[in-house]
Amino acid sequence: MKLLSVDQRQASTYLEISRECLVSKYEHYNTTSINYDKTRTAVGVEIVLGYLARLNKPAPLMTVLDAGCGTGNYALELARAGMSVVCADYSEGMLAQCKQKIESHGFANAVWKQCDLSLYVSEGQVYDAVMCNQSLHHLDPADDFKAVKHFLGEATKSLKEGGVILINTITHQQLENGVWWGKLIEKAVERMKPRFIEYEPLQAFLRTIGFEITDRVVNIDSIIQQSGYFDPNALTSLEFRQGDSHFALLSEQELDEVLGRIEQMIREGSAEDYIAKRDQLRQQIGQFTYYVIRKIGE
Ligand SMILES: C[S@@+](CC[C@H](N)C(=O)[O-])C[C@H]1O[C@@H](n2cnc3c(N)ncnc32)[C@H](O)[C@@H]1O
Repeated sequence: MKLLSVDQRQASTYLEISRECLVSKYEHYNTTSINYDKTRTAVGVEIVLGYLARLNKPAPLMTVLDAGCGTGNYALELARAGMSVVCADYSEGMLAQCKQKIESHGFANAVWKQCDLSLYVSEGQVYDAVMCNQSLHHLDPADDFKAVKHFLGEATKSLKEGGVILINTITHQQLENGVWWGKLIEKAVERMKPRFIEYEPLQAFLRTIGFEITDRVVNIDSIIQQSGYFDPNALTSLEFRQGDSHFALLSEQELDEVLGRIEQMIREGSAEDYIAKRDQLRQQIGQFTYYVIRKIGE
């Protein structure tokens, strides 16, 4: 197995970020990192592993960039499969959790880099794959998704021949109806939508740089929030809400109103029915989508 160690020279190719540069403005991940894993796991990682298997290369010879690795739930599974993983994130807290998690499992095939993806610079064709799980929407969407396009442009440059980029994101439709509380927090959903680049503009951009989305994959059985998802009381827990960053886009007053409505439904005994009805939509569209990106013609 090819083992990577933390290489300071390589790390210097990443642009270090200052504390003042709070890229992910709507949620502070150093705080969130503490509770993140209470509601989040590597949902959809089977999709990632499936596409990586199709690269037809022994796992120990593969290197994958996990862009916006968070607490490392996805990176852990790739490390477990024997791949070398470069875990990149802006948040020190998330990186610390990621490092602790992977090391505590005894895997030595990962490195950690603090970096701002919107300033990411390719180091040449070094990755068999780049995966970005639920992180792209944290980049500033200004100027027609300039930061997202910059990151993806550099990510394509960092791919080895035949390499693949796997973007785990949420469509606007999934934002509205992929979680049962979507309607209750519709103000946050509307504020959130402009952060998520949709399929058509993303595809159009990728084609200008010689790449394209070849597959869109949804696993309708996967539920991001896992345990407690169907519990009407879940929303009253800060820990649970921290598993869905949309809540951070509500004002205190708006959040109080949402909690007031769900508490009223619980009192009236209508909460379970409400959840079951709303969940029918999730069962049709799923909660998240993987975009599989490859070089045109490869
Ligand atoms: C919702 S979490 C996803 C974490 C992980 N990929 C997962 O799915 O469990 C988003 C992550 O993106 C990171 N992030 C946000 N903005 C970033 C940026 N500009 N550069 C690098 N990482 C960023 C956050 O620190 C956080 O760890």
